[in-house]
Amino acid sequence: MIGRIHKRVMSSLSVPQDKTDGCELPEELRRYYLDTMGIQVWDELYPEAMPMDVQQEVSAVVEIPAQQEAPQDNPPAIEAQTDASTCNWQELESLVQQCTKCKLQVTRSQAIFGSGNQNARLLVVGEAPKQDEDAQAEAFVGEAGDLLTAMLKAIDLPREEVYITNIVKCYSPDKRDPLTAEIEICNTYLRRQIELIQPKVIYAVGAMASQALLASEESISLLRERQHNFEGIPLIASFHPAYLLRKPSEKRKAWQDLLQVKKLLTE
Ligand code: URA
Repeated sequence: MIGRIHKRVMSSLSVPQDKTDGCELPEELRRYYLDTMGIQVWDELYPEAMPMDVQQEVSAVVEIPAQQEAPQDNPPAIEAQTDASTCNWQELESLVQQCTKCKLQVTRSQAIFGSGNQNARLLVVGEAPKQDEDAQAEAFVGEAGDLLTAMLKAIDLPREEVYITNIVKCYSPDKRDPLTAEIEICNTYLRRQIELIQPKVIYAVGAMASQALLASEESISLLRERQHNFEGIPLIASFHPAYLLRKPSEKRKAWQDLLQVKKLLTE
């Protein structure tokens, strides 16, 4: 059975049969077999690597061993919370810190959960931490962070009064944009943060954050032109501070967006 599947998988991959030498598995196939053995592979992020019918065929015949529980002499009195949607603040933060659902956990120093006032009226949502944030354990540090702090101050909001987080909680060492799968994984955490904070206004900075929160593919230039709603909470989409540093001429528009935030907060 596995031999037959191997042949079918091989024929669906881009690697020529003669390049595998009969013993060296192409990377995609090696990972696929590890996966079917119940060994966690990071390619859960890229399930499209295998044709669906082959996945179904293999999972029907290969028994995946149950995960072994580590022996515990003194089991904890309180069971670890694993469902973000029912977590309290502390449980949620610890769930995020322990998250191993994507490969960013391998390179991060820690997850950057967010910081500020847990009862904030304004929630700022950015894209993802960068290396500086990973090192300093706080979202929006560095130049873009300083600009964000100054922008908030300009509408009379000290940084400590708002809550600042990102759609993705861990930094990516290759400086790329967050992947859809990473955004989806962290979305559960962000949603619970929003439920717990219950902000009066959400201020999404940058295209990635705005598009993710609004499930939209529209450009940030279009999204910022109107007010949105995230599950009953007014949402203002605006430019990312890092973009404003590169393109200061757009600061005037960002200021208009901030004034709109301020107006919604005082209504
Ligand atoms: N740092 C963050 O925490 N978020 C961003 O979107 C950019 C830099």
